[in-house]
Amino acid sequence: MADLAELWEKVSSNKDSKSLLKKHLTKEVYEKLKDKKTKFGGTLADCIRSGAKNLDSGVGVYASDPEAYTVFQDLLGPVILDYHKITELKHPACDFGDLSNLGFGDLDPSGDLIVSTRVRVGRSHASFGFPPTLNKEQRVEMQRVTQGALEGLTGELKGKYYPLEGMTPDVQKQLTEDHFLFNDSDRFLKAASGYDDWPTGRGIFFNDNKTFLVWVNEEDHIRIISMQKGGDLAAVYKRLVGGIKELEKKLEFARLPNLGYLTFCPSNLGTTLRASVHIKIPKVAKKPEFKEICDKLNLQARGIHGEHTESVGGVYDISNKRRMGLSEIEAIQEMRKGVEEIIKLEKAA
Ligand code: ARG
Repeated sequence: MADLAELWEKVSSNKDSKSLLKKHLTKEVYEKLKDKKTKFGGTLADCIRSGAKNLDSGVGVYASDPEAYTVFQDLLGPVILDYHKITELKHPACDFGDLSNLGFGDLDPSGDLIVSTRVRVGRSHASFGFPPTLNKEQRVEMQRVTQGALEGLTGELKGKYYPLEGMTPDVQKQLTEDHFLFNDSDRFLKAASGYDDWPTGRGIFFNDNKTFLVWVNEEDHIRIISMQKGGDLAAVYKRLVGGIKELEKKLEFARLPNLGYLTFCPSNLGTTLRASVHIKIPKVAKKPEFKEICDKLNLQARGIHGEHTESVGGVYDISNKRRMGLSEIEAIQEMRKGVEEIIKLEKAA
């Protein structure tokens, strides 16, 4: 409790924080939630620790476990509405669309602009807590279950699991050069217990072509990633959906009808889907209205070295901004239309 009182003091006494935690953790909400606990042992302190220690957070809140979204709804609900710019906690059923008739293929057949295409989703095991409520044994057990499911994949998805623990320097060097390997350098995630017992329980799976990847216990229990060079969004998306469907046969993923798939961070709820291209758009990106163009198309532009990075040489990471309140296929179509528009603008500039 001392921990929680201190965290509350940090948040409530600060005047400059622009985080959604600061905005929505009112005295009233705090009083109502301060003694609650989930069946995974998750507390309010677990949900707000990162944002209280990093007052420059944008969101500042993580869910202690799948049940936190219900038990701490008085805080998490308003944060979700605000972040996802929706007016109701509501999410449609999962719908990947008609994969045999998507109506699009390669977004850049000329190959001039799109360097690579990637689509990812996050998934959580229904029966395990999120990082603040996990111990070392549970991390190991979760990895065992996940690895078993991954190593049952066949055909194009067939591959191998590489645990971080005990990884040889050679493999580590190769995977770092491939930009596959995640690390423990995010201070927001660190403060949220995201790196407890590091590197135990963490690892990566990938297929022989390195076009289908799964991160185990990075931020989420599972991040499923499909990617390849060039702009063939249809191929990337179909491979991803194929992988999700295979894994669903073996694992039970946490989901709530009104929030969609549950993730550690409320920013990833719903479809949890982020479809992105690395795209060379030096001309469009130089326009003073670049940010407005992206906003209008519901796109987000980032640097190519991940979240919170800058662009290098006019290459941007462009992705769908919305993940909640729309279906998977709608999120993909929104990204496709947006990217097509950006390409048109770049070619006309
Ligand atoms: N907790 C961080 C913040 O509030 C990151 C939020 C979104 N990013 C993420 N990887 N979940 O600023």
